[in-house]
Amino acid sequence: MSESDPLEQRVSDLLQRLTLAEKVSLCAGKSLFKTQGVPRLSIAPMKMTDGPRGIAFHSALHRCTAFPSGIAQAASWNESLLQGYGEAVGDEASSVGARVLLGPAINITRTPLNGRTFEYLSEDPYLNARLAVPIIRGIQQRGVAACVKHLAVNNQETNRVRLDAKVSEQALEEIYLPAFKAAVETGGAWSVMAAYNALNGFPCCESEYLLQHKLRNEWGFRGFVVSDWFAARRTSSAQACLRAGLNLEMPGKGSRLKARNLRNAVAAGQLTEAELDGRVADLLRVMALTGHLDNTPSAGRRNTPAHQQLARTMAEESFTLLKNRDAVLPLAPRCGLRIALLGPKLASRNCFPLWGGSAGVWPPYEVTPLAGMRRENKGRYTFVRSAEEADVAVVFAGLSHRPGLDSEGVDRKALALPGAQDALIRKTAAVNPNTVVVLLCGAPVAMPWLNEVAAVMMAWYPGMEGGSAIARVLFGDAEPGGRLPVTFPARLADSPAHRSLRTFPGENNVVHYDEASFVGYRYADYAGIAPLFPFGHGLTYTRFAFSDLLCELGADDEVLRISCQLTNTGQRAGSEVAQLYIGSPVESCPPQALKGFVKVRLAPGERRRLDFEVPLDQLAHYDEISASWVRTAGDYRVHVGRSSRDVQLSAAISLDDW
Ligand code: BGC
Repeated sequence: MSESDPLEQRVSDLLQRLTLAEKVSLCAGKSLFKTQGVPRLSIAPMKMTDGPRGIAFHSALHRCTAFPSGIAQAASWNESLLQGYGEAVGDEASSVGARVLLGPAINITRTPLNGRTFEYLSEDPYLNARLAVPIIRGIQQRGVAACVKHLAVNNQETNRVRLDAKVSEQALEEIYLPAFKAAVETGGAWSVMAAYNALNGFPCCESEYLLQHKLRNEWGFRGFVVSDWFAARRTSSAQACLRAGLNLEMPGKGSRLKARNLRNAVAAGQLTEAELDGRVADLLRVMALTGHLDNTPSAGRRNTPAHQQLARTMAEESFTLLKNRDAVLPLAPRCGLRIALLGPKLASRNCFPLWGGSAGVWPPYEVTPLAGMRRENKGRYTFVRSAEEADVAVVFAGLSHRPGLDSEGVDRKALALPGAQDALIRKTAAVNPNTVVVLLCGAPVAMPWLNEVAAVMMAWYPGMEGGSAIARVLFGDAEPGGRLPVTFPARLADSPAHRSLRTFPGENNVVHYDEASFVGYRYADYAGIAPLFPFGHGLTYTRFAFSDLLCELGADDEVLRISCQLTNTGQRAGSEVAQLYIGSPVESCPPQALKGFVKVRLAPGERRRLDFEVPLDQLAHYDEISASWVRTAGDYRVHVGRSSRDVQLSAAISLDDW
């Protein structure tokens, strides 16, 4: 059969023609990033590649475009940009012959110390879901399967393969699963990766609750589940994994799902051939969808100027201006303005193979901040070495992908910047009142010098064009478009996961998510804690005014319709992210939650009406006793503003008989 035949017919036709030996061989890999093929039926081994910020060198063996990392992608709050990113990485994956791209990575930022915070998107389930969907759609539009990872609650690296996370059903429903649900239901993801850890006593690779009940029965998933690399080793048996819903063990020939184990399980009656067929069918379905069964040649291109330009735009859209005293930024384009360029990250690169772990992309070039400042200067500024002699001092500080910092496999030990960076910033600020700190890192850091400096900008891990983007934003040739997708706590103890060893990193291989749904700003709001910078925060080079809030129940009473006016009252064009938070009358719920956002770019003086639609189901909370989502009557508080703490407009709406 061929591409033109109905999908399910093709899958069942092929299934009938496969022998038992061939079917069991398909459930494990052939090598590090390839599945087994079936030469007799011209099914080639299927290639997969990492990862969530571009095509990783270790799996693709090609240098490819390095885009900003996950947290930076999320800081853009820009769905159409991320759809374009998905299309670009889909093309690049295809150009290296991969049918499956191992990303996006959408675990919730439960602790700022997670070594993979830089790879993941956000602490907020709504933002996470809204941004994961366009990435997945973009990738799959290019005929490549997105593999959404890691299902579920893989929120720390410490002890990741032995850990059992104890998480309440309410927290799973409200915080940890919504983005995976959206990835499947709305994004239509063709593949999912099961996490290393166990959840409530069951390794994720053999969790019937996750892989069967949620993923397939509730969300209607029809694709395949692959184990995280070597994760299936810690499961109990081939039949338990397969029955729970695991389709494929990677890498190599497998430990549990190796052919011999599966053959024996079928022979012993521990697994029926029909059960095996179901799992193989899921895999064949994705092979058909990606063109793999038809051996369609790789399409798509990598390292195109358009992709590099996109990497730069994404970086600019992600840069988050945290502080800007007296509008020291953008730097006045005054001829001869003397800028001191300082700090350990000024000339350092971040993109190398496996640098940071499996997300490490090795691009053909990388523009460092120093190179970018030189390239974009265009004769406007004079660069000097000494902060004392400069009009403005810019210190480039941050973390790196060294193990123990922003890196897979190990968590950070503390929020502090490593080395003598705090001292350097203080020393600089002491001699130059116009000190600007540019932070290159993928997670919240402590800023003990915050009151002493004029400006702070998060540049995250900005990818191969990062230096140009930084220069353009500092010089005012582009706007800093980002907003924080995670809370920056003032102290580690303000983060709810860090109340005891029991809650992080766990004791005796068990970690308790005692904070339940009170993650990130939900906890800060509830506990009345002032964060260093709140979720959603990010300044602009212009000013915006919010007005005319309208809030009403839609005609069918199932949708809350909220709208407001936004006006650019400043002198420059710029973008604002209008954020909608809703507070529930249910006392046990977090005080407010993000329920909508709109990012718009407005010219000076331009005004636009912004519309938010909130399906009422979005206001329900999960009730463990009835194991269902419950709607509660009462007064709901509606806030529209510039961050979770910067409320510009408020209203109350009473929902009585809904
Ligand atoms: C990571 C995954 C990655 C896989 C393959 C694992 O260590 O957790 O995110 O896709 O390796 O490189």
